[in-house]
Amino acid sequence: MNIGIIGSGRIGATAAKLFVGAGHPVAISNSRGPESLNGLIGELGPGARAATPAGAAEFGEMVLVAIPFGRYGDLPKAELGSRIVIDAMNHYAARDGEVDLGGRTSSELVAEALPGARVVKAFNTMNSHTLGTESTEDPDRRLVLFVAGDDEEAKAAVAELIREIGFVAVDTGSLAEGGRRQEPGSPVYNKPMTEPEAREALKPA
Ligand SMILES: NC(=O)c1ccc[n+]([C@@H]2O[C@H](COP(=O)([O-])OP(=O)(O)OC[C@H]3O[C@@H](n4cnc5c(N)ncnc54)[C@H](OP(=O)(O)O)[C@@H]3O)[C@@H](O)[C@H]2O)c1
Repeated sequence: MNIGIIGSGRIGATAAKLFVGAGHPVAISNSRGPESLNGLIGELGPGARAATPAGAAEFGEMVLVAIPFGRYGDLPKAELGSRIVIDAMNHYAARDGEVDLGGRTSSELVAEALPGARVVKAFNTMNSHTLGTESTEDPDRRLVLFVAGDDEEAKAAVAELIREIGFVAVDTGSLAEGGRRQEPGSPVYNKPMTEPEAREALKPA
């Protein structure tokens, strides 16, 4: 499956290595343009190519978005319209400015901004270092990457990708409620955990 990536920083580049390692061709993009990605593409090897954000969105059946949440308005709407969009973005007011979420989760705003896109919130709670180092074939040691969304088929496709890269997916629910369960400050945020630990942490208090 072709995968597009928007954002070539800590999460985008780390995920790109995992996706290429699992055999998925990747087109990766950033804000500075494809020529700035030569070094990373060299590291990733022949499975990866550099693109613009619109080009990455066009390339991927699935597109990982890993840019600062404050920039989500820049995402290429038309090209993302029919895609499974993995939203890895977290809202940090100190970095992103005060965005009025109107009581909604950041991923609901992203979905609203991308008509037709099948948005799945995932890759939000694990830091890039853990993502880059803790992938494993051993089912008992696999750490959890959470998924949330309103499109069950899209969520299942992202869960399968997560399994392929050496983690295990746990569904936290809809983009609204499940998205909230993954936000900064939640019991599962930035706490590497196995599936039993994750299910325990998600139990209502
Ligand atoms: N770091 C983590 O451990 C972690 C974990 C989970 C989730 N997240 C979330 O994932 C997102 C990315 O975090 P990060 O740590 O990977 O950030 P980062 O290292 O600062 O990288 C951000 C990337 O986004 C690109 N970018 C910025 N504005 C853009 C735009 N308008 N269009 C296209 N690309 C744009 C940047 O392009 P340039 O390279 O050209 O500047 C850069 O490649 C954030 O929302 C963060 O909250 C991060």
